[in-house]
Amino acid sequence: MRIAVFAGDGIGPEVTEQAVRVLEKLGLPGLELVEGDVGGMAYRKHGHPLPQATLDIARGADAILFGAVGDFSCDNLERHLRPEQAILGLRKELGLFANLRPARVFPGLEHLTTLRREVAETIDLLIVRELNGDVYFGEKGIRTLPDGRRQGWDMMSYAEDEVRRIARAGFDAAMTRGRRLCSVDKANVLETSQLWRDVVIEVSAEYPEVELSHMYVDNAAMQLVKNPGQFDVIVTGNLFGDILSDQASMCVGSIGLLASASLAEGSFGLYEPIHGSAPDIAGKGLANPMATILSAAMLLRHSLGMEAEAARIEAAVARALADGINGGDLGGSAGTREIGDAVVERL
Ligand code: IPM
Ligand code: MG
Repeated sequence: MRIAVFAGDGIGPEVTEQAVRVLEKLGLPGLELVEGDVGGMAYRKHGHPLPQATLDIARGADAILFGAVGDFSCDNLERHLRPEQAILGLRKELGLFANLRPARVFPGLEHLTTLRREVAETIDLLIVRELNGDVYFGEKGIRTLPDGRRQGWDMMSYAEDEVRRIARAGFDAAMTRGRRLCSVDKANVLETSQLWRDVVIEVSAEYPEVELSHMYVDNAAMQLVKNPGQFDVIVTGNLFGDILSDQASMCVGSIGLLASASLAEGSFGLYEPIHGSAPDIAGKGLANPMATILSAAMLLRHSLGMEAEAARIEAAVARALADGINGGDLGGSAGTREIGDAVVERL
């Protein structure tokens, strides 16, 4: 079992360190951790945010534990050299097409929601976001029109096989949960979305037990704050999923607790907290490592088939929260190391 650990920028190294401590504490036989450079720190060391050596480490591993990338000092670099290209490149190069972003309110943390408490308490949803296509990876550029005006453009497209495999990921996820799938698109305006909707309906024939519905993305954004309890699994494209998953995280109020998995065909996956590199608090020992620790739990479950160990980590985090160990993002005062200690003790 080889896990690649890519800590990255900002608070990435601090939070990843605590997740690694938790993994090591489990004493899993044959577990090997291999570190690699990604993001702005990789650019400074190697001249590229995703060096070939890092890709090689990723390809030789069973799963990746990822911290965060992003660094304001790189904002003026050409796009292909910016830190974000590390995560985008890993997703594309490794075929990590299915992004699972669960959101639910943690017991005892209901007060953190930006919604009314009785609304937030109903949230238990999973966003399945496509990660390999859409405007993210289409042709793009800034060109000058014949009349001299500059024009930015990004090509949005989805091929039917790309929609089919993410639709199946959505239906499969729904089968393990409440068996309700809501496909989010913008089929009233976009041809890409019309094909998306047609293909999702085709795939639904393979899943007669799952109740399928469709929603335009603007309405979905509204429903997420109006009546989020209606959702079980949401399946959507790359751009809409990026936006809706940030929104869902604030509906539950604790971005420092939300983990995510990015899965390829088979068991390979990359696991990362959904928060970013938070440069404002980097290096201060203030960041909450729980989302990264919970990402490590998802890694054990999805890529290594170790359900019992994953549940042990999740229970230890839940116990620490119940005992009042809260990071600054949760209105508490526990620091990065202290939270790591608390989870390790409770394992
Ligand atoms: C995310 C992030 C990334 C994305 C950025 C860092 C490129 O916002 O994982 O949601 O847009 O996918
Ligand atoms: Mg995002």
